Amino acid sequence: MRYAMILAGGSGVRLWPMSRARQPKQLIPFIGGRSLLQVAADRLEGLVVQDHRYICAAEKQRAMILEGLPGWSDDQFLGEPAGRDTLNAVGYSAAVIAQRDPDAVIAVFTADHLIEPQDEFRRIVGEAFDLVEANPTTLATFGIAPVSAATGYGYLQLGEPLSGAARRVVRFQEKPDLETAQNFLAAGPERYLWNSGMFVWRADTLLDCIRRYEPQIHASLMEIAAAWDGPERAATVERVYPTLKKISIDYAVMEPASRDTTVQVAAVPMPLKWLDVGSWPSFAETCEQDEHANAIGAKSITLDASGNLLASSDPGHLLAMVGCEDLIVIHTPDATMVCRKDRAEDIKKLHALLGERF
Ligand code: GDD
Ligand code: MG
Repeated sequence: MRYAMILAGGSGVRLWPMSRARQPKQLIPFIGGRSLLQVAADRLEGLVVQDHRYICAAEKQRAMILEGLPGWSDDQFLGEPAGRDTLNAVGYSAAVIAQRDPDAVIAVFTADHLIEPQDEFRRIVGEAFDLVEANPTTLATFGIAPVSAATGYGYLQLGEPLSGAARRVVRFQEKPDLETAQNFLAAGPERYLWNSGMFVWRADTLLDCIRRYEPQIHASLMEIAAAWDGPERAATVERVYPTLKKISIDYAVMEPASRDTTVQVAAVPMPLKWLDVGSWPSFAETCEQDEHANAIGAKSITLDASGNLLASSDPGHLLAMVGCEDLIVIHTPDATMVCRKDRAEDIKKLHALLGERF
């Protein structure tokens, strides 16, 4: 049977001050009043049945997340007592789901991407499900044509054609250095694609890779799964999960699997509008633009201003700007931030200075 799991554990510090501990970025009502998480959940409509949908996020966000997802039950929320990165989040879902359905095929999605159009997205994900169902030892990912030599993404080196548009991935390389990324970009999208961070696999195939590459993590995940349907579920997760080694799926499974002849890594190209909404400049791309390339996410008035982002969490609050270029101005009820666009990554450092105060 087909399942879906949404990863929603990122902290979103680069989207401060809208993203806070009490309202992490996935829950900010950005897109026509819907949060990224609600948009991610809407995307599953027509892909998998409602009770085969799961979300993995911080246990302490359980109530606030489920409140925004009517129709989702407590059981569909896989809570993490502490974030241990994506290998553990996807392994957790695979262990729990495989317990109940040994033939489960799981599609993993993220809560911080905007993808359009929806019907094409569903068709392409359906293609990946078909591929994995026909080839049980396949780990499928979705490939995006690179538009820059980004060093924050994974790259898929493409090999022979598989069924449909899918290609074998002969090498998966996570976060290459700049020179390598430039070479990958120059080689063109027939040779290299970005890893979208979304995957489709059989739960048992993924778990078998984890068992071989990260045996300790596998043993801990099995301990959680064994306790899942009993009275010790919460206590076991609470005790075992924080002891897991922090590592991402890309480094722990996808890279070694691309060198492992017993499994097949495949890329299904996703030639759609795809945006990783992780920082204010990428958020700006989701906003309306005025004729001076200002991204407008607030009630605003500007004079001789260009290339700015203006955003407010209060639709009635006016932002006014004169003679500014390439600034990010974010208004919230208790904090306002002004930042040069080329310093947007440093919001992380600013946030570290603030600690837990805001
Ligand atoms: N539940 C949970 N727990 N989710 C997590 C955790 C965790 O501990 N850590 C990260 N996530 C979620 C994030 O919220 C995000 O939706 C997704 O998993 C990916 O994590 P990131 O931390 O954003 O990864 P990345 O951007 O550095 O790299 C990944 O995504 C790129 C595309 O956006 C990789 O898969 C790259 O290869 C890929 O190119
Ligand atoms: Mg990311």
